[in-house]
Amino acid sequence: MISRNTIDQVYETTRLEEVIGEFVTLKKSGANFKGLSPFSQEKTPSFMVSPSKQIWKDFSSGKGGNVIAFLMEHEHFTYPEAIRFLAKKYNIEIEETVQSSENRKIKDLKESMFLVTEYATQFFENSLKETEEGKSIGLTYFKERGFTEETKKKFSLGYAPEQFDAFAKQAQKDGYQLKFLESTGLVVVNEGSQVDRFRGRVIFPIRSMSGRVLGFGGRILSTKSKTAKYLNSPESDIYQKSKVLYGIYESKQAIAKKDICYLVEGYTDVIQMHQSGITNIVSSSGTSLTVDQIRMINRLTSNIVVLFDGDAAGLRASLRGIDLILEQGMNVRVCSFPEGEDPDSFAKKNNTSDIISFLEKAPKDFIQFKASLLSEEAKNDPIKKANTVLEIIHSISKIPNVIKQEIYIRNCASIMDISEEALFSALAQLNQKNKQIGSKKIISKPEKTLLKKTKTPSLKVDQIFELEKQIIFILLTYGNLELDFEDSIMQTDDKGELIEESKTTNVKVYEKIFLDLQEDEVELSNDNFRNLFYQLVESHQKHGGNINLEKLMQSNDLDQNEIITDLVMRHEQHQLHEWEKRNIFVKNKGTEVVQLVSETILSLRRFLIDQKIIELQEQTKLNNKNDDILQDILSYQQLKKVISKRLNRVL
Ligand code: CTP
Ligand code: MN
Repeated sequence: MISRNTIDQVYETTRLEEVIGEFVTLKKSGANFKGLSPFSQEKTPSFMVSPSKQIWKDFSSGKGGNVIAFLMEHEHFTYPEAIRFLAKKYNIEIEETVQSSENRKIKDLKESMFLVTEYATQFFENSLKETEEGKSIGLTYFKERGFTEETKKKFSLGYAPEQFDAFAKQAQKDGYQLKFLESTGLVVVNEGSQVDRFRGRVIFPIRSMSGRVLGFGGRILSTKSKTAKYLNSPESDIYQKSKVLYGIYESKQAIAKKDICYLVEGYTDVIQMHQSGITNIVSSSGTSLTVDQIRMINRLTSNIVVLFDGDAAGLRASLRGIDLILEQGMNVRVCSFPEGEDPDSFAKKNNTSDIISFLEKAPKDFIQFKASLLSEEAKNDPIKKANTVLEIIHSISKIPNVIKQEIYIRNCASIMDISEEALFSALAQLNQKNKQIGSKKIISKPEKTLLKKTKTPSLKVDQIFELEKQIIFILLTYGNLELDFEDSIMQTDDKGELIEESKTTNVKVYEKIFLDLQEDEVELSNDNFRNLFYQLVESHQKHGGNINLEKLMQSNDLDQNEIITDLVMRHEQHQLHEWEKRNIFVKNKGTEVVQLVSETILSLRRFLIDQKIIELQEQTKLNNKNDDILQDILSYQQLKKVISKRLNRVL
């Protein structure tokens, strides 16, 4: 782990505008800087950087945060990667905290392997460019494929010499230990002999999302040879085939920015397309897609277009794999190339604008594509047709969104000439089956009816979210104001009913909010808001409301950073109309704040209590009418009544 000390030093030294300036052209605008959003394609700048606050806000995508958040969003770094990047930029020496020896060992091992793969990448690049063999064989090959100088450099393409231990020898001469040459799979050690895995092949280094070389693919040059066309690194601590996507490092920014990812089969498809200007593209390296790979893409976009080679052979087999993408809630389209073409050959033959227009027009919605493909095959065969219907329904059942499911059902009914009802009931059957397989817990009848009768909490989620956000806003903006609140004390009368007595108290806004929530024993429901809430209360208590926003944002939680930035920037720009529209915001500081606070907190308390009641009611179903819980429910219901009454008075 990087020490706190180093992290602090990084934050102290870093100038946000300098870092962002590396990626975005910024122009001074008042106290701030402005530029075109790097997260969307826009013509008028809506990306703002505040040097005084060291935060940025992208109004077109809603993203925002501090310098780390920027690097995580833009470069898709992890938190430690972002810190390391900044430390390097500002020449800060990284101090590591002591780790358990076990952890340290594993990490050191991996680090040593990465050193080797990085070295090997250079070795192969070098032997392509600098050696006679590399130039005459490797470079000639790449020339035939039409790869430019720039392309070779971008993908660090290389050449592995024919000689059986050229790499093994040179690497050890340069001080790399044999055990790491072996564990990365670059050298095969067998009874004392050391043989290079890659010999007489052109080399494609495979990088991680953050650009480290995990492994290699090597392509044979002669077609005569009986060995496999491609040879890949073996699985190791750093290379797991199911978790890599070729081209992800080179394509990640374009994927995020264009909000779409093309998926192809081969290394050369990715490279050729890049050379033609299609830079949002990755390859699964010839295998069917795994969940890990899909998740990796999902970090960047939820839109995938799968590009198939012109030969229909692999097509049907690949269809099933695509259900996996649907399961992740992503949108999938498919696109097949003309007979005999793959993306590589197509890109080589056509100019960029033709490729772009092909990619705009040719992709078809996956479900529709599957439906028309299969129904064509099964047109005159009733048994086949029945199977086809099931296969399509199977895909539709994978879509997590019910509304989308319904749209597809209607769509497919017309494509396949089957009634919607039949499709809906087939879907229902399949869902039922999935449920039984998926969850062992069988919902008892009473619980089901209870869930139906009570208003589903999810309907209120948006309101709770807005209210909790507003609480944070109030804490940030007015937390330290001391105001007169009409307060009330809850008491139980002789009959055990809750009654309230009101009196005026002069307290700070943050205390009022904190105490009111405590009184109900409820907490903010959103993890980020709850987290922020406690941090804000603490900083009000300790530092008298002098809130250090930079410190607050030094968490690795992007969402949290986004929320703070959002609130601060909005306040700054007097962009409060949204709140005002909802009639729940202040016009100016002063007594209105009292109104705002009371209203917000009462509304929120009512919602949270509602949730608490539902939660407890669910518990009673599991605990067989536990008396304590029933009693709690009753108290909360009374409390809710009181609060509702008070809320009516305030409004
Ligand atoms: N592949 C592999 N091992 C093989 C064959 C293929 O790992 N023996 C992987 C490679 O990642 C390859 C991809 O599957 O890029 C697609 O295979 P193929 O279409 O045969 O290769 P192309 O990329 O078209 O290669 P080329 O154009 O160089 O023939
Ligand atoms: Mn090919």
